[in-house]
Amino acid sequence: MNKYFLTFLIFVFYSVTGFAQFGNFNRDSLNRLTNADYRFMIETLGIDSVRRGPSGNPEAPDAAIFNEAEVQPYFLPDPLVFNNGSRIKKPEQWEKQRAEIKELFDNEIYGRLPDNIPSVTWKVVSVKDTVDGDFAVKIKQLQGVVDNSSYPEIEVVIDLTLGTPSNIDKPVPVIMEFGFNFPGMRRFMRQNTDELSWKQQLLKEGWGYAVIVPTSYQADNGAGLRSGIIGLVNKGQPRMPDDWGALRAWAWGASRALDYFGTDKDVDEMKVGIEGLSRYGKAATVTMAYDPRFAIGFIGSSGSGGVKILHRVFGEQVENLVSSGGYHWFAGNFIRYAGPMTQEDLPVDGHCLVAMCAPRPVFISSGAAAVEGQWVDAKGMFLGGAMAGPVYELLGKKSMRTMLFPPQETLLDGDVAFRQHSGGHTTGPNWPFFIEFAKRYF
Ligand code: GCU
Repeated sequence: MNKYFLTFLIFVFYSVTGFAQFGNFNRDSLNRLTNADYRFMIETLGIDSVRRGPSGNPEAPDAAIFNEAEVQPYFLPDPLVFNNGSRIKKPEQWEKQRAEIKELFDNEIYGRLPDNIPSVTWKVVSVKDTVDGDFAVKIKQLQGVVDNSSYPEIEVVIDLTLGTPSNIDKPVPVIMEFGFNFPGMRRFMRQNTDELSWKQQLLKEGWGYAVIVPTSYQADNGAGLRSGIIGLVNKGQPRMPDDWGALRAWAWGASRALDYFGTDKDVDEMKVGIEGLSRYGKAATVTMAYDPRFAIGFIGSSGSGGVKILHRVFGEQVENLVSSGGYHWFAGNFIRYAGPMTQEDLPVDGHCLVAMCAPRPVFISSGAAAVEGQWVDAKGMFLGGAMAGPVYELLGKKSMRTMLFPPQETLLDGDVAFRQHSGGHTTGPNWPFFIEFAKRYF
């Protein structure tokens, strides 16, 4: 049997058994539950109808805008202007402004963290000394068990893997990826080229890696909103419109992993970074923005709902994000921007989310338009970083120093950096550039 077919079979197996984690659903009942929860939220919001998003297929009659010449002018909120209209002049004023921005993201887009989130107890399930290519690595399997005494019907466990160089006897920097944990898949996906995997590249620097599995503690669908960590806190009841969505829940789990790293003598907890791609790129941005303990971010093709400027109508739109396929990533309130309101009404945008990360370093990554497609809007993601520049400068850091979208494979490296590689929907080709960037800080 060929390797790719086996990988495919394993993927199918995990897709099916993965759903079983959150009840014995098949895909139909999963969709039914998602649609029911979605309709419930729309009714709670009192919205009559939600606009349909454009198609990602450039050939479709209702295709999204994929042509730069069709982009209409737009006006962006200024991250350096307070809600009362006054402008920030001094770095000391930033924390207050950041709090205002955070409140807007909480209420309008990502939702609020509840007050009563139960605690997490970390268990080391196994420790194994092994090798990864040429590198000796100590791999720990960890589980963050959430206290569910308030509602024992729902169990929540965070799956985390940590790999640190076995031959280094001091705390090392660690880059954590929002990822999958498919052991069979990993075996078959192993590269047979000369290139080093991202984990090997980190080990080569004497750094460690970690993989946190977001869907172990919050499912990636609307049906799962009444279970996982969100459902546990709500005791199995539906969300309120400003309750957290999956992105904030996933970011919460990353913060709990960072708590654990603080107790592990192999990890330098001051030098922990977060990386993710696509929806997990959005999650990585939210993690960086909300938890100032994360030292660096590597944000892969996060697109809409990540660092992309939503006021810029190109590629994926708010309407797509808040369809039944994506609304669970966000607070219910965000759906209003595809109901009575539009993206023009958003009081914050991708650049404000990057600004929340300032002054910490952020590397924004994209694939090539010709390979990855334009749904993610590379230029819109670049602008998310570029327009956060004034905040970095206010805080004494370097912006990208340009608003012009750079040619492919050109690194713009302020403390907020951008690089569009020549590959597809992956962070792969940008890893060596991210590591060089990170070495300036670690
Ligand atoms: C879809 C969705 C994106 C998302 C991506 C993903 O393309 O429209 O917003 O980032 O899936 O795979 O995560």
